[in-house]
Amino acid sequence: MDSILVTGNGPLNGAIPIAGAKNACLTLMPATLLSEEPLTLTNAPRLSDIRTMTSLLQSLGAEVSTLQDGKVLAMSSHALDNHTAHYDIVRKMRASILVLGPMLARDGHAVVSLPGGCAIGARPVDLHLKALEAMGAELDLRDGYVHAKAPGGRLQGGVVEFPFVSVGATENALLAATLAKGTTVLKNAAREPEIIDLAECLRKMGAQIEGQGTDTITIQGVDRLNGATHPVVTDRIELGTYMLAPAICGGEVELLGGRRNLLEAFCTKLEATGVEISETDTGLRVRRAVDRIRAVDVVTEPFPGFPTDLQAQFMALMCTAEGVATLEERIFENRFMHAPELIRMGAQIDVHGGTAKVTGVARLKGAPVMATDLRASVSLILAGLAAEGETKVSRVYHLDRGYEHVVRKLSAVGAKIERIKES
Ligand code: EPZ
Repeated sequence: MDSILVTGNGPLNGAIPIAGAKNACLTLMPATLLSEEPLTLTNAPRLSDIRTMTSLLQSLGAEVSTLQDGKVLAMSSHALDNHTAHYDIVRKMRASILVLGPMLARDGHAVVSLPGGCAIGARPVDLHLKALEAMGAELDLRDGYVHAKAPGGRLQGGVVEFPFVSVGATENALLAATLAKGTTVLKNAAREPEIIDLAECLRKMGAQIEGQGTDTITIQGVDRLNGATHPVVTDRIELGTYMLAPAICGGEVELLGGRRNLLEAFCTKLEATGVEISETDTGLRVRRAVDRIRAVDVVTEPFPGFPTDLQAQFMALMCTAEGVATLEERIFENRFMHAPELIRMGAQIDVHGGTAKVTGVARLKGAPVMATDLRASVSLILAGLAAEGETKVSRVYHLDRGYEHVVRKLSAVGAKIERIKES
């Protein structure tokens, strides 16, 4: 398992390119199961999660070719010769559950392993299943698998009322509804940019969808979908992550491809800490405009609120802020595992249930720390960028799931960072 060594090295200056969104790509890829025509995704990120989804789709009989060093995914599924998504793949990546809706919609039957929990929470999929049942699916849960059938071979349009916002359940229902017979209405739907991106891609394929980006999405089912070519939307979580680098270290960095409307709530909070953000023709320019960052409270919420996927990274910024910041995590039940690791670096953090109170210190000290999940891993790297001395982050395989070329991107703006192979 590799580690990353990072040493505090002063202000950062330069430009960082932002890749396509992991969480958009992971829901766009299963859309290929809905049509026999080719679906090509451009601006795809080069990540281990994308490779896992590729293997899963191939195991179902879809063809997936990665071109241009992985930035282009050329996919097609003339016929599925397997309708089972096995536990060994699904347990590695929860987004695998997103093949359930499309398979069921296309061929009227599917068997998908329940994903199981992960480090940040139990992460059930009950809302996914209820949504499909509202479209007529008959589900039988046994041996850890969902055995799904559509009576008569086709889902029926229906009304799906989500009791609370779920990104994945909205995506599964949206994918399935495109081929259902009749109209489907998704109420209290997720509004994330990744949902809009999926809907735009499905519309290019011939789906009839209205309301994406609002809390009510209406889908008129069609009999078949065509192929399409679609660019994956910019990754707002990678964007927000790298915006925090000059905030934590000082300096000025341009995030190429970044647009403010992808993460308005995050930008507002970051500006309140004393960081200047300006839109350029090629992206977002971020500059720390104060000697010491100010503490700012944050509550994580579904889009357009502050993203839970940037909570760990923002906590790293708050560790050396002036004052006390309260971070409330309302989406996942166990998403503060980066806190004990930051405390090893000298941070002062009190965690009680879903709330973390961070009392800023003048400077963190480098230390050996361990990544526990994807976003926690990059939070520790951000902390290490400004810490005194060297920080060694172990188990960086977590990082590879969601960030491509971290060492290259941060080195390019002056960070002292390297990846070391460990036995
Ligand atoms: C997506 O996960 C993202 N993953 C997550 O990003 C992100 O944190 C999350 O949305 C929230 O924005 C992908 O898009 C691949 P949810 P998802 O359904 O869809 C509960 C990252 O770091 N819930 O919106 O699984 C759930 O446990 C990852 O890139 C149910 O109870 O999130 C959570 O507490 C981490 N039953 C809350 O709802 C369900 O059926 C929100 O989950 C579904 C969800």
